[in-house]
Amino acid sequence: MARPTHGEITSYLNDDAPQDIRKLVLNAGKGDILNPSYPYDDRMDRKDYQKRMDALQIELVKLQAWTKQTGERIAILFEGRDAAGKGGTIKRFRENLNPRGARVVALAKPSDAERSQWYFQRYVEHLPSAGEIVFYDRSWYNRGVVEKVFGFCSDEERERFFRQVLPLEQGLVEDGIRTFKFWLNVGRAEQLRRFRDRESDPLKQWKLSPIDVKGLHKWDDYTDAISETLLRSHSDSNPWTIVRSDDKKRARIAAIQTVLSQMDYDGKDADAVGQPDQKICGGPDIWDA
Ligand code: ADP
Ligand code: AMP
Ligand code: MLT
Repeated sequence: MARPTHGEITSYLNDDAPQDIRKLVLNAGKGDILNPSYPYDDRMDRKDYQKRMDALQIELVKLQAWTKQTGERIAILFEGRDAAGKGGTIKRFRENLNPRGARVVALAKPSDAERSQWYFQRYVEHLPSAGEIVFYDRSWYNRGVVEKVFGFCSDEERERFFRQVLPLEQGLVEDGIRTFKFWLNVGRAEQLRRFRDRESDPLKQWKLSPIDVKGLHKWDDYTDAISETLLRSHSDSNPWTIVRSDDKKRARIAAIQTVLSQMDYDGKDADAVGQPDQKICGGPDIWDA
């Protein structure tokens, strides 16, 4: 598909973005946090990050060894607005894992054949077998959010999705699949800064899609669809974990800690794992439009 690398982001920033957002982006220094409601003033120190991350990576390797040995199955879903940091977080989870047994599922838009199937079918096909950890970079929650915002499904299809989603996930848990659902929460100015950087960096342009560009004008529609989705698909057995990702480093660490702290694998070093930072990681109540 054609990539919108011809200045659409820059012209949105200059001509259409809300005044306060434009100011935040244009006046931003390299390491500034652009979300006024984010609980920290600065990004995490790189050295601290590296130290924490190195220790967590060792724990992830132990988790994978245990998963293979015991035949456990783990499914981890990543959702969030465009540029929230889903891909980068998954990358850190998998960095030192054996790729055989740590798969990423990042499905393209549905084909005609897939459109004719039960909505969940193409996602279900990729669920983990024994010993596998599967990372979903976007998931069946497309129907809750992007499909609603862009009119890719009917209201009736979306209602059916909401009726089916929690029973389906409950079924996974009952079958013994460990499931995690992450919602990465990024503020509007930070998202725009990341888009602008993608537009100007030839190595990142592939990440910028026509949906991202059109979505710039649909911030509030996304907000409504996300809020409804979190409300209707959160339960005790299949809870959402919100991770505020304006600082990518803190977000990656908190996501990895969330998984590790809930698993009881061989050789676990509970001190190295620690607990996710509750200022940026928690239930739907910490989600911030
Ligand atoms: P990404 O952010 O994952 O790189 P996009 O921003 O292009 O991808 O699209 C967001 C999501 O919307 C993707 O999961 C994509 O498959 C989905 N999508 C795009 N077009 C359609 C469509 N016509 N029908 C259903 N889903 C679509
Ligand atoms: P870099 O990772 O330094 O190449 O930066 C690429 C883009 O990500 C730029 O928009 C940076 O401002 C942004 N970025 C880098 N590190 C962080 C961080 N810790 N939190 C949020 N954004 C970041
Ligand atoms: C992200 O950064 O959230 C993902 O890589 C997807 C994207 O926005 O293109």
